[in-house]
Amino acid sequence: MSVEVLRAPKSWPRVVLARAGRYDPDAGLAAAEREGAWEAWKNAVSTLDPEGILATVTRSGLRGRGGAGFPTGQKWRACRDAPAREQRYVVANGYEADPGALLDRTLMEQDPHAVLEGLALACFAVGASRGVLAVKADYAVVLRRLAAVIAAVEGAGYIGRNIMGAGFDLQIEVRPLQGSFMLGEETVLLRAIENRRGMPDQRPPYPATRGLWDEPTVVNNVETLAAVPWIVANGAPAYLQVGRAGPDSPGTTLVQISGAAKRAGVVEAPMGVAIGEIVERIGDGTGSGQLKAVLLGGPSGGFLPADRLDVGLDYKPITDAGGILGSGSLLVADERACIVELATLMQRYVADEACGKTIPCRIGTRRLTEIGERFMSGRSRPSDPQLMQDLASDVRDGALCGLEYTAPNPLLTGMRYFAGEFEDHILRSTCPAGVCHPIRIAAGATH
Ligand SMILES: Cc1cc2nc3c(=O)[nH]c(=O)nc-3n(C[C@H](O)[C@H](O)[C@H](O)COP(=O)(O)O)c2cc1C
Repeated sequence: MSVEVLRAPKSWPRVVLARAGRYDPDAGLAAAEREGAWEAWKNAVSTLDPEGILATVTRSGLRGRGGAGFPTGQKWRACRDAPAREQRYVVANGYEADPGALLDRTLMEQDPHAVLEGLALACFAVGASRGVLAVKADYAVVLRRLAAVIAAVEGAGYIGRNIMGAGFDLQIEVRPLQGSFMLGEETVLLRAIENRRGMPDQRPPYPATRGLWDEPTVVNNVETLAAVPWIVANGAPAYLQVGRAGPDSPGTTLVQISGAAKRAGVVEAPMGVAIGEIVERIGDGTGSGQLKAVLLGGPSGGFLPADRLDVGLDYKPITDAGGILGSGSLLVADERACIVELATLMQRYVADEACGKTIPCRIGTRRLTEIGERFMSGRSRPSDPQLMQDLASDVRDGALCGLEYTAPNPLLTGMRYFAGEFEDHILRSTCPAGVCHPIRIAAGATH
């Protein structure tokens, strides 16, 4: 299944999808090169200035699109400066762990050259001679296209040994991987690439200094890397002008609209644009039901109610509102949705996927799920709301990885913005949306 790239207003700039739809990804290298692919790479190799590339990416303010929004230039600097025994690595994270998320897949299908050129530039900038692109094993079209592009650019001498006579080597490998939600987490991903069993590692040391095979390794999301050729070709000042969120968070990000939106699909949106604008202008609002909320950032993301959709698509405002930008998935819920049920479903998913390495996460996410299930079934105890808050803090305090830190988000934001709905479940054993059973369905429920 592929998702549609939704039409966006003409004023919305395209960076990572700038070439999408303008060439046939199966038509060979020349077709992509006519649209500018590998231009930045060839310039980089001819000028041989990795520090210049690193400085450009740092000045551009590019932040990681894999979820945490870490400044890309800083990560690259740490890797370049870390001593390597034999070599450095760059790992492109195209595993796309979020269930139902098809953003990275859309990007890799539509413009595999952008991702691979970005990976090559990252390797060049940090002094890595090996790039690994990790892709979900069931992304068949992506895998086929990536293999064809790699063969073509190797054939053209853009990667491989003694690239374009410049005296350095770059090998790029695609690794199809299949696993759980946790496999997208960077330290788990690195272990999987090493063919080892993975659980998140305590950091520091970060992968940038000690990653794949204990060598300095940059792990970047594929969307982050796909922005790099554009930045190198157009310059940092041009990228800083893109988007509405200012110099702390420039550029664009891919967003996937799903759920009750009239139009579902992927769009490249300027950073800073209001979430509500995306829902209304791109998703065309909801169908028959009134817009109630969005769940932003996947199963450990946060709810925003319909009257708070002025929050901008940016890391800090979204975190302040209790959620995460995460992979950029935006699930639209209309009035027929029960937030208590949705939050509990998310909590259960995260509990099932948790690797179990730390006790607060292993036990805490399970207990949080049980509390949500008690809310849903009219069996709440008076102490449950406070217990939920306390447990959520404990889970967060013991966090070893991002999953643990963000796991309580849906329940916490649900309770924060839909307190009345939670009270109906807890105090009155009533589900206003008429979803939760066996508890009483409220009079006037829509179904
Ligand atoms: C449970 C979990 C799943 C994750 N899944 C992904 C994923 O599918 N793709 C991704 O790029 N990052 C994922 N991340 C974030 C990565 O650990 C890492 O921060 C990211 O790949 C770094 O790239 P960036 O700096 O370009 O954002 C996940 C994190 C957690 C905690």
